Amino acid sequence: MIQPAEAGPVSSLGRLGAFYHLVERAEVDSTNDEARALAEAGAPEGTLVWAHSQRKGRGRRGRNWQSPPGNLFFSLLLRPDCAPAVAAQVSFVAAVALGDALRPLLPPAARVGLKWPNDVLVNGAKIAGILLESDIDVGGATAWLVLGIGVNVRHRPDGVPYPATALAETGCSADAATLLAGFAERFADRYGRWRHAGFAETRAAWTSSAHGLGAAATVRLAQRTIEGQAVGMDEDGALLLQAGDGTTHRIAAGEVHFAPMDGTHAARD
Ligand code: BTN
Repeated sequence: MIQPAEAGPVSSLGRLGAFYHLVERAEVDSTNDEARALAEAGAPEGTLVWAHSQRKGRGRRGRNWQSPPGNLFFSLLLRPDCAPAVAAQVSFVAAVALGDALRPLLPPAARVGLKWPNDVLVNGAKIAGILLESDIDVGGATAWLVLGIGVNVRHRPDGVPYPATALAETGCSADAATLLAGFAERFADRYGRWRHAGFAETRAAWTSSAHGLGAAATVRLAQRTIEGQAVGMDEDGALLLQAGDGTTHRIAAGEVHFAPMDGTHAARD
């Protein structure tokens, strides 16, 4: 069992803020699995598991997440003390914070896009994914939340069914530790404001960097597919999709494919 370390300096990362308890590992199966185990053993909010590579990195919908050394893999344990549907908003807080951390590292012409629900894109190609996992307590509140984030820093994945990129492809030479430190600072700040003041600020920031709003979109649900135009995200985090007949659908969970816009790539979840 991994024990959480005290927040403090490590070789390549430096000191994180007081919110964090860093657990740094050379290689694990999955940082989400490590963080889940720590959550169930009672580890505190802010426990951050960072691994330099993963043997069994997991993406959403049971997909593999390619995890070679040089890219960034971490999972953050949170205990937001709210209903699961509200806790799911943390993925948007994280996407916004990651966008904020990436922007100063990128060349001026590069564009960060946030794709509903959980992807971060650069110039229309996926650079990062977010995997949120949680458990509820007997009263139905969120017992713990594990926010797992993978960022293609040095390497773009092979053979994935969507356009993908890596930070290095933009000409940026920043390493995983630099990006993690930038994210950690911004996330702690945004997460605190989300907890105390609610989702409105996150929603506005997410919307201002959203990828695909106004574009034709296809949403695959469990039983059917809806085609329409993505018109926004509502005050709870659902995607608003306007169908051809004028009906606005509220999509709480699903797989979205946006048609290419203005020479950008499409990104399939
Ligand atoms: C996605 O499918 O887009 C989500 C990818 C999430 C990958 C990260 S890497 C760190 C953490 N550990 C995992 O096994 N998965 C997440």
